[in-house]
Amino acid sequence: MHDFVNLNDLSTDAIMSLIQNGLAYKSGEATPTAPSKLVANLFFENSTRTQSSFQVAEVKMGWERIMIDPGSSSTQKGESLSDTLKTLGALGVEVAVIRHSLNDWYEPLLAEHSDLMPHLVNAGDGNGQHPSQSLLDLMTIYEEFGHFEGLKVRIIGDLSHSRVARSNAEILKRLGAVVTFSGPENWYPAEFDQFGRYVDIDDGLDQQDVVMFLRVQHERIETVENTGFSAMNYHFNYGLTKERYNQLAPQAIIMHPAPVNRDVEIADELVESDKSRIFEQMRNGVFARMAILNAIGED
Ligand code: CP
Repeated sequence: MHDFVNLNDLSTDAIMSLIQNGLAYKSGEATPTAPSKLVANLFFENSTRTQSSFQVAEVKMGWERIMIDPGSSSTQKGESLSDTLKTLGALGVEVAVIRHSLNDWYEPLLAEHSDLMPHLVNAGDGNGQHPSQSLLDLMTIYEEFGHFEGLKVRIIGDLSHSRVARSNAEILKRLGAVVTFSGPENWYPAEFDQFGRYVDIDDGLDQQDVVMFLRVQHERIETVENTGFSAMNYHFNYGLTKERYNQLAPQAIIMHPAPVNRDVEIADELVESDKSRIFEQMRNGVFARMAILNAIGED
């Protein structure tokens, strides 16, 4: 695998192989086999989980890494992302892990076909894709159920701003899951119709295998204050309340990419409840990212 920018570009076999490798690294049945690379991590948007777990994955794999601080880099003088990456390539950086607010930031870079360009890993682009989060989500679901075919997955919340929802909806449908969506209607983009139905949150909630909540992305909702957003109303109408939790099927699991707005998407007391896999998702993130880096390292 030369680059990892959109999970949906990969074949089902390639995705299953990444999941199996991630699980094998987690259980200790296998260790990464790719030769060591020099990685640069560039996070132009804030991150705790993705940034740290890529770093932990790099450390566990014994790869050399450098952190680029966008705030003190020459991007502040107007240097383009392309020139920044070709500069790093000239310095010997072989893999660049990048989070950027620009949707599809990788498209023009891949189109350049420059020998100086490091292998590109998308750590989240605007409200486009979040493929490494999607992979760890798939790994968490597969670890729980051992398959995707026929699983009922409900994705709930701020769909219009969520790169996690966009990545997951498409791939889960391809893998045979029955995906439905809930949340505020004005945050439901019609493009999601191709992946599943929009339904009221309480419609069939008791039959879902996976209930995935999305963060309300205040930083991307410019008018949230002007539209009279109320955390309490949101929680009552679209959140995981104790009443909704008690209706869930015995096998159901709760997921959230985090950070969680406690008492908004999920009641504070339920974030670490028995059905919650939120911290397991984070744990799996390290191994999923090791699988991604290993596949690139073997290219
Ligand atoms: N889930 C996720 O992408 O979290 P961070 O923004 O903290 O990386």
